[in-house]
Amino acid sequence: MNPITKAIALEMLPSSEILSTQDLLKRSQKSDYIVRLLWNALPYSHYGYGIYHAARLAKLLKLPAISVIEFGVAGGNGLVAMEEHAKVIQKLTKVKIQIYGFDTGQGMTPPADYRDMPYRFAPGNYKMDIPKLRARLKKAKLVLGDIKDTAASFFETYKPAPIGFASFDMDYYSSTMHAFRLFADGLNDDFFLPRIQCYFDDIIGHEISSYNDFVGELAAIRDFNHASQHVKVAESRVFRKYAVNFEWYHQFYVMHRFTHKLYNTYISSAKPSSLALTKKKKKKKK
Ligand SMILES: C[S@@+](CC[C@H](N)C(=O)[O-])C[C@H]1O[C@@H](n2cnc3c(N)ncnc32)[C@H](O)[C@@H]1O
Repeated sequence: MNPITKAIALEMLPSSEILSTQDLLKRSQKSDYIVRLLWNALPYSHYGYGIYHAARLAKLLKLPAISVIEFGVAGGNGLVAMEEHAKVIQKLTKVKIQIYGFDTGQGMTPPADYRDMPYRFAPGNYKMDIPKLRARLKKAKLVLGDIKDTAASFFETYKPAPIGFASFDMDYYSSTMHAFRLFADGLNDDFFLPRIQCYFDDIIGHEISSYNDFVGELAAIRDFNHASQHVKVAESRVFRKYAVNFEWYHQFYVMHRFTHKLYNTYISSAKPSSLALTKKKKKKKK
């Protein structure tokens, strides 16, 4: 298939207006940062979106700092992008941002069973060059080791600020379930925002991946929700209102901690005078 036919047939080429707007936003450093994120005009725009909305919620709740986490770091491109977005967002919101990256440091572990999708993910893939990444990182902390071990001591070791955004990119069902242990029902509220922005990297994919509710990250979300009474991971619905449509819009969920001490704190800008009946328009004299 020639490349243009392939692009049109398989990638559903967006309209030229969308492409030219996005191109303009990519080049124009002065345009609004949030607009650039929503138009997917910056590297790892989805990370910027998640971190920004976590920091915004923290500000509304009068919390001075948050933590953001990448579960699954590989070579480190995502973690480096997280640092860059956090720098901008810290300046915009004045909320301090701690960054953590969890990984074995040695690539994928052997799959546990069919739910880890051995047809799609292979042990040893996505190795990290640890010294090279450490030299590149400015503030992010690497939590190295199998998440099934590192999750247990994370809060005690790092005493992180409340977690506000997490990118789940460990591919496997089993690893994602271990990552979810950090968010279990009944843990100390101080380690979490009441609502946590969550990005799941492996839930759309392509025909080869064939992600579905019974394997991988989607199965982990389903099983976590099934087992957890007061903490639920629910699809973010805000993107339904946008005229443009990027893949990551469909990869955002919000983790709700219903019994969190700040869950019911009012943060909306609506007040008693909102939605008052508007004045009757005077009829123009002819
Ligand atoms: C697809 S890569 C992450 C890519 C990265 N987020 C990025 O944007 O460049 C998946 C990573 O998850 C890590 N991983 C998978 N299972 C793990 C486990 N049980 N414990 C720790 N890390 C794990 C692997 O080492 C691998 O580097």
